[in-house]
Amino acid sequence: MRILSGIQPSGKLHIGNYFGMMKPALELQSQGEAFLFIADYHALTSTRDPALVREYSRDVALDFLACGLDPERTAFYRQSDLPEVTELAWMLSVITPMGLLERCHSFKDKTAKGLPATHGLFAYPVLMAADILIVSATVVPVGRDQKQHLEVTRDLALKFNQHYGEVFTIPEPSIREDVALVPGVDGQKMSKSYNNTIEIFGDPKATRKKIMKIVTDSTPVEDPKNPDTCNVFALYRLFATEEQRADLAGRYRAGGMGYGQAKKELADLVDAHFQPFRERREALAADPAYVDAVLAAGANKARAAALDVMDRARHAVGLR
Ligand code: ADP
Ligand code: TRP
Repeated sequence: MRILSGIQPSGKLHIGNYFGMMKPALELQSQGEAFLFIADYHALTSTRDPALVREYSRDVALDFLACGLDPERTAFYRQSDLPEVTELAWMLSVITPMGLLERCHSFKDKTAKGLPATHGLFAYPVLMAADILIVSATVVPVGRDQKQHLEVTRDLALKFNQHYGEVFTIPEPSIREDVALVPGVDGQKMSKSYNNTIEIFGDPKATRKKIMKIVTDSTPVEDPKNPDTCNVFALYRLFATEEQRADLAGRYRAGGMGYGQAKKELADLVDAHFQPFRERREALAADPAYVDAVLAAGANKARAAALDVMDRARHAVGLR
C-alpha cells in the first residue's frame, strides 16, 4: 500500500483538518509506504503574498511533525520540490474534458467565497491528480470534501491508461465517515475561509474563549437536550473516550445541565489533547535545520518514485 496525502499551506490548521485528514493520514503511516506533502503550488491559487506562502508552508511542516509525522516512515516534502508534477499536470490537462472540471464543486465554492476565478483555480483538480499519480499512490486519505477530486483523478488515470497504455496506478480514497465533517463554531463546516475554526496550535486561552462561543440552540438549562444535533457534542465526541461520550450524552438527555458546562468539558479535552503536541512544536520551531533536513530527505524519496513514472509517461505520450 502506498499512501499519499497533501494539504495546502493557506492558513492555520484547525481541528477539521486534524480529524478529517491529518490524524487518519498519520495513523496510516504505519501500514505502508507513506508520502505527505505541503501543497504550495496549490496555495498559490488563493495566496498571493509570498511571505505568507512561506510562513504557512513552514507552519504546516511544524504542525505535522508536532502531531506525529514520523520522517523515518513518511516521505514529507514540499510539492514545489517536485516540479515535475506541473509537467504531468499538463499531460493530464490535454486529456481532461472541460465538462469534468465544470462539474467540480470546489471552483464554484471558492469563487463564491471571493477567490479570483483564475485558470489555475479551475484546473486545480488536474494538478491534484498529478500529485497523486506521480508517486503511484494506492490510498489517499482525505476529508469528504475531496472525494470528487479523487474521482477526477481516477477518471483521468483510466483515460490516460486506456489511450497510452498502463502508466498510472488507480488510487482509492480513504475517507473516515465517522469524522467526515467537523463543524465549526457556527455549525457550518469548519474551514479556514469561514472564520469559524478552532486552531490546533492556537493560543490556549483564545481557544477556550472560542469554544465557549460555539453556537447552540436555546433549550433552557433544566430541559433535556439532544446530543445528536448539538455542535458542542459533535466536537466533544471527537476527543472523548467511549465512556466520556456516553456519560455526557446521558447528562444531555437527563436535563439540568447547561451548554456552558458541556463547552467547559470540551475545552478541557481539547487543551489536554494538544498539550503534548504544543510542547513538541515549540522544540521543533527552535530547530529549523532539522525541519529543512526532513523536507530535503522527503523530497529525495518522492523524486525517486516520481522520476520513474515521469519517464514512462513521457515515453507513452511521445515526448521521448
Ligand atoms: P479548509 O476548508 O479549512 O481550507 P482544506 O480544504 O485545506 O481546509 O482541507 C485540508 C484537508 O482537511 C482536506 O483533506 C479536507 O478534506 C480536510 N478538512 C478540512 N475541513 C474539514 C472539516 N471541517 N471536516 C473534516 N475534514 C476537513
Ligand atoms: N486539494 C487538497 C485540499 O485542498 C490538497 C491536495 C492537493 C491533496 N493535492 C493532493 C490531497 C493530493 C490529497 C492528495 O485539501
